[in-house]
Order: sequence, then structure tokens, then C-alpha cells
Amino acid sequence: MNKHVYRDIFRYHEETKHRFDRYARSPGFMDWQNQPNPFRFYGNKNIIYLPLLKNNPEAAYMDLYRRQNNTPKPFILEHIAGFLELSLGLSAWKAVSGSKWSLRINPSSGNLHPTEAYLVIPPMGTIQAGVYHYNPLIHALEPRIRVPAETWDLLLKYFETNGFLVGLSSIFWRESWKYGERAFRYCNHDVGHALAALSFSANLWGWKMTFLNSLSDDDVEKILGFDRTGWKRLEQEDPDLLCFVHSHQHQKVCRGLPEDIISAFSDLAVEGKPNILSKENTDWEIIYQTSRLTRKPATPEVHIDAGKRPFFATSEISLTAAEIIRQRRSATDFNSEKSIPKGHFLAMLDKTIARDDCAPFDIQLMEPSVNLLLFVHNVESLDQGLYFFLRHQADLDEMRPIFHPDFPWKQVQKGFPLYLLKRGNFRHDAIEVSCHQEIAGYSAFSLGMITKFRNIIKKEAYRYRHLFWETGMIGQILYLEAEAHGARGTGIGCFFDDAVHDIMGFKDNTWQSLYHFTVGVPIEDPRLTTYPAYHHLQRT
Ligand SMILES: Cc1cc2nc3c(=O)[nH]c(=O)nc-3n(C[C@H](O)[C@H](O)[C@H](O)COP(=O)(O)O)c2cc1C
Repeated sequence: MNKHVYRDIFRYHEETKHRFDRYARSPGFMDWQNQPNPFRFYGNKNIIYLPLLKNNPEAAYMDLYRRQNNTPKPFILEHIAGFLELSLGLSAWKAVSGSKWSLRINPSSGNLHPTEAYLVIPPMGTIQAGVYHYNPLIHALEPRIRVPAETWDLLLKYFETNGFLVGLSSIFWRESWKYGERAFRYCNHDVGHALAALSFSANLWGWKMTFLNSLSDDDVEKILGFDRTGWKRLEQEDPDLLCFVHSHQHQKVCRGLPEDIISAFSDLAVEGKPNILSKENTDWEIIYQTSRLTRKPATPEVHIDAGKRPFFATSEISLTAAEIIRQRRSATDFNSEKSIPKGHFLAMLDKTIARDDCAPFDIQLMEPSVNLLLFVHNVESLDQGLYFFLRHQADLDEMRPIFHPDFPWKQVQKGFPLYLLKRGNFRHDAIEVSCHQEIAGYSAFSLGMITKFRNIIKKEAYRYRHLFWETGMIGQILYLEAEAHGARGTGIGCFFDDAVHDIMGFKDNTWQSLYHFTVGVPIEDPRLTTYPAYHHLQRT
């Protein structure tokens, strides 16, 4: 790889680090006049309004991970609607003193939601095969490309099984409007959250998602029609990925698409015109430059063997999978007096380990590259202190020498990859390094996602984005795990990067902390009124 490419990516990363003496460049104020519309519309006439679920699927929470109980359902519109409702749909509306805003099943930094979703679906009754945009506000599909039956047949023949494609894209402007240059990072975290949310939801219909990891971003753009859409400058959608959704019983799925299918799509006309999101936009140039540098080329198909590992035994979860998915929220305040049981803490960490045939990591993104630095504040039967959790145990030998030499690396429990680095009260340190946010220190525990960095990006620049996706996926697991265990979580994108590295003793960018998270017993904000997700629609 040209060394300017990775140098420029490292430069972006350095320049968008928050530091004690200066935050990454951002507007520094809220330009309410130009607040971007969080919903994309294409203004089509032939919108397909999707049915809302009458009843939640009955799957148990653990069925999000273990697949043997999940009976594959047919790929009909009603089921696809449910799959979207429980992954990217609205989850509620909140209101306080005259202002009202929607929340979604998937979280997003600042609730700005830069991630958009597209489906490529087969013909279903009166619905033609095609590329459709999912609009979560009206829970509807907007037609973008009509796909002729013979092109769909090519796809079916290629995959040798029924299914459909789901694609994600990012509108950087939605995040940069508030967060400036650091926004590119947040957009990619959000992709990871959305990806995990989709992968979990697929299980409720007995389906599984496979990431088409050999496709180039150019190919994704051609299939979704972005290359022939008239975007407003700075409001364009950047292609992130395409996944194939199929029965979980169908194991051998290709990870790319042949040239004839891609070129068949690239000749098809697009419908609809993207809505304008803001009157005026600011050009945070380094974001678009980094996006170009990290565009994915076509690559050989990758198959990752994550291995099998039993789950850490935990108490029965009484809520169903769908109930937990629907009630996921970010905590805004924690009760620092309240602890969580050690068994719950270990079970949450354990779920973040990638396993074969287990959502969400069996979408097959990449080799696990993220381990967890933990600030344990209030976990029963566990000393307060700094801990390290190895999601990828093979990293131990590489990591130990780059940490402070006086850390004892004392394993907490035989067979469980959790190590004590230092006893003590780290509430203040956690708050300080998290841009002084109290949620990082008044919780039961918070953590930094420590990611193998320099060598991965030097080898393949596009992996810069995938590393953020992996951390977002871990965040989504933690959100659901927290709810399942009677706690609540919050993603933390705002932290002082190098202050975190100093805690561990890192001297360079071999590993970097990319995303933080906090879990504890929440304190609800009594000022907020909550409304049901789709109370604004006259539809069942
Ligand atoms: C990538 C990411 C970064 C976030 N960073 C912060 C943060 O630094 N501080 C905070 O209080 N909340 C943070 N959040 C939580 C969001 O503000 C929250 O997801 C959003 O307001 C939507 O609310 P909900 O999660 O309850 O649906 C973050 C969420 C994500 C996904």
C-alpha cells in the first residue's frame, strides 16, 4: 500500500483525538437552523407501507445467540417488515417542555442516525423485485430500482438458496453537523450497532446474515444505485456494506457477487429523489478524504473460524428477545450505590466473544481485533480496579509487554480470560478520561475497547472502518446484555484517547482505544414523557 494512504489515515485518527487541552475540531455550537433531517425520503409515489407486528416473536433471549430453536420462516413481506421493525425501526418517542424526538431500536451517537438501510428483495405477490430504501419513520419501503425477474433469478442461482440482501450506508453530514471531524468515527460505530441489531433480529425469523466481504464499495454503490443518484453535495450516502440474509440452516454462503450480476444492476434506472437534509452544510474535508482513503476494493472471500465455546452459565432471563430489543435505551444517569452481581458481569463480557454460528459476529466481518480495558466500580464479590478482558486470547502475549510492567495480570477465574491489572477506585479516572462524563464513573463498570490498530491499517486501509464496526457490534451486545440483566448501558464516543492509552502504558499506535461503554443501574429522568414507537401512524 502507498505509505501516504496509511499515514493520512493515522493523521485523521490523531487529529480527531480529544485531548485534555483541546477537543477535536467541531462547530462548537448547535446550528439549529441547519439541523439535518434524521430521516431520508425519496418522494416516491409507490411506497410500500409495512405492517407493524401484532405480537412479538416468542423467541427467548438466548435464541439471539443459540440458533437451534429458531425455525426458519419464509421470506414474505410480513416477516421482512418484522425483521426491520426489530432492528432499525423506531422504539419510542420522548418529549420534554415542547420538544419531542424519536428513538430507535439501534442507538446512534447524539441520536443523529447517519446510517441508512436498503433491501434488495425478491418479487412478493404484487411487489416487484427491487432495491428499496427502508424509512423507519413511516415504517415503509421506498422503491429505488426495479429489478427484472431474470436478474433476480441470477442472484438466486448464485446463492443457491432463497433470501434477500440488506445494505447499509452513512450520511456523514448528519453526525458532522454536531461533532465535526470526529464524526467519521461515530458514523462507523453506528454501522456496527446497526449491523449487530440486524444480525440479532434475523434470528427471530430463523434467518442469518452473511457479510459479502469480498465486494468493493464501488460494487455496493452500483447495486444500490448510489452512483446514479443526484445527491446534494455533502449529503451523499457513502456505501458501507451488503449482507445476504438467508435461512440459518443454509451454511455455505458465497461472500461476493459475480461480475455479470453487478453489471446487470448497474444498468438499471433509479427512481426517486433524495430529500434535502439541511439548507446549508459545512464541508469537514478530512472526513471525505478519509472516507476515500478507506474505500474497500474487491478482495478475496474471507472465511473466519471463530471456534466453539460454551456460554458462561447465567441465570434464566425472564424477558423475551423482542422485549429486550424493544426496551434497549441509553442510560443518562446511574445510581453509583447499586452494584451488579459478579455472575451477570462475567456473562456480559462472555457474550462479546465471537463464536462460530452465533450472532452477531458470524456475519464474518474479520478476525476479532478488540479486547476490553475495564474500570470495575461496583460489581459484587469483585475488587474495584482496573481489569483486562481478552476477547481474543491469542493476543495475550502480544499485549502484556506493551502495558505498564508492574501490572500483575492475575486471572480472576480459571478458564475465563479476565485479568486484574490494578486494585483501586477508578471512578474518578474513568470520568476524567471520558470527557468528564459522570456516566463512566457512577456506573457498575465502564470500559474502553482496545483495538489492534497500526498493523491492520498498514496492511488494508479499509479495515480502519471495520475496526469501528467491530466495536459498535460489541456495544450493541452490551446494550442488550445490560437490559437482559436488569441494568442499562450507554455507548461513549467522547473520550480523551491518549489519556486512556497512558493508563495502560501505550507508547505508540500499535493498539488504540476506539470506543467506550458503561453499564450500571440507571436512574430514570422523571421529566421525560414517553410515547409508543408508532403512535403517529394509523396502521396496525
Ligand atoms: C457511537 C455512540 C457514541 C455515543 N457516545 C455517547 C457519549 O459520549 N455520551 C453519552 O451520554 N451518550 C452517548 N451515546 C448514546 C447516544 O446519545 C444514544 O444512543 C442516543 O441519544 C439515542 O438514545 P437511545 O440509545 O436511548 O436510543 C453514544 C451512542 C453511540 C451509538
